[in-house]
Amino acid sequence: MKVKFTNLYKLIPEKEKIFSKIQNLIRNAQFVGGKNLLDFEKKFANFVGSKYCVGLGNGTDALEIAVRSLHLKKNSEIIVPVNTWISTAEAVVNNGFKLVFCDINLDDYTISIQDLKKKINSNTRAIMPVHLYGNPSNMKDIKNIIKNKNIKIIEDCAQAHGAKIKNQHVGTIGEIGTFSFFPGKNLGAFGDGGAIVTNSKKIYEYALRARGHGSKKKYDHKFPGRNSRLDSIHSAVLNIKLKNYKSVIRKRNKLANIYFKKLKLIKEISLFRLNKNCSYAFHQFVIRVDKNRDNLIKYLKKNKIDTMIHYPYMLNELKFFPKGNNLKNSKNLGKKIISLPISEEHTEREINYVSKKIEEFFKKKI
Ligand SMILES: Cc1ncc(COP(=O)(O)O)c(C=O)c1O
Repeated sequence: MKVKFTNLYKLIPEKEKIFSKIQNLIRNAQFVGGKNLLDFEKKFANFVGSKYCVGLGNGTDALEIAVRSLHLKKNSEIIVPVNTWISTAEAVVNNGFKLVFCDINLDDYTISIQDLKKKINSNTRAIMPVHLYGNPSNMKDIKNIIKNKNIKIIEDCAQAHGAKIKNQHVGTIGEIGTFSFFPGKNLGAFGDGGAIVTNSKKIYEYALRARGHGSKKKYDHKFPGRNSRLDSIHSAVLNIKLKNYKSVIRKRNKLANIYFKKLKLIKEISLFRLNKNCSYAFHQFVIRVDKNRDNLIKYLKKNKIDTMIHYPYMLNELKFFPKGNNLKNSKNLGKKIISLPISEEHTEREINYVSKKIEEFFKKKI
């Protein structure tokens, strides 16, 4: 059996409906803005339970605009977990602020509360927890630590559409939540896309202008912004996909449960620790293998199973970023983790097959 990591074409639900919608938009030359965008912003805000949503060109812009919207002073420090996609850190340095890396937990790969306490100082103005792989960060403790301090929270939810803590959607717990709708994300458009969600009218108004050269309508520039729009076609696709999204989450959880059941007895593997209060989006299913990781990848490849690594390096290993200090858990993590195939289009049979091959590898002690 061949198990691909993802098949983006297969992931498109209701193809006929989507294709005919796009045809209509093209016929009516409806490419930018308009009803589909407004509809999506309303529906997505409703889906996460926030007052406002602003559709944007991609998740990286969402992070950069989010940081800028806080209007922080020049020497502000912003704390970012060291295991994330580069965008979270780029948003800090591209806005001219000081990037401070924080360690992550080894049981869920989100920001370490222990290390966070050590990284906060009088210059800290923001924290950017990343709900990595669809795993919610420990928002309760983060909020407790910064109580009575002038520190804001931007939640990077690029991988966590549908993830919740005690029924509250991630992205609505801090000041701002940012999302990506890159095609490979759980809720993906037909190209790049992103959004900010917030309950703050001020941040909402800022983001609305920031995405359109500082203006809400033509020639009404109030500051230099950028061009970062969620196009009409992407908005229409996302509107259709959002309707079906709860079943996507259900399927991903079902497949994740197979991995948990099958792999939990293999002592060489560390799995996520799931928290009873949380709902998970399972954007990635990541296992950690302290020894022989590369041989396992090769063995799976030989058996036609695709895997990936998220991420093969920690951000402090990139030459142009700060080295960071005391990043114990994340040290060499990129050499130990593997992302296994998981998407709503994978079958239970495929996931059972992947699990069986992993079991086989450890039995044979290859
Ligand atoms: C955690 C995280 N943050 C931010 C982004 C950036 O999103 P985009 O690719 O839409 O710019 C991604 C995308 O991979 C991501 O995984």
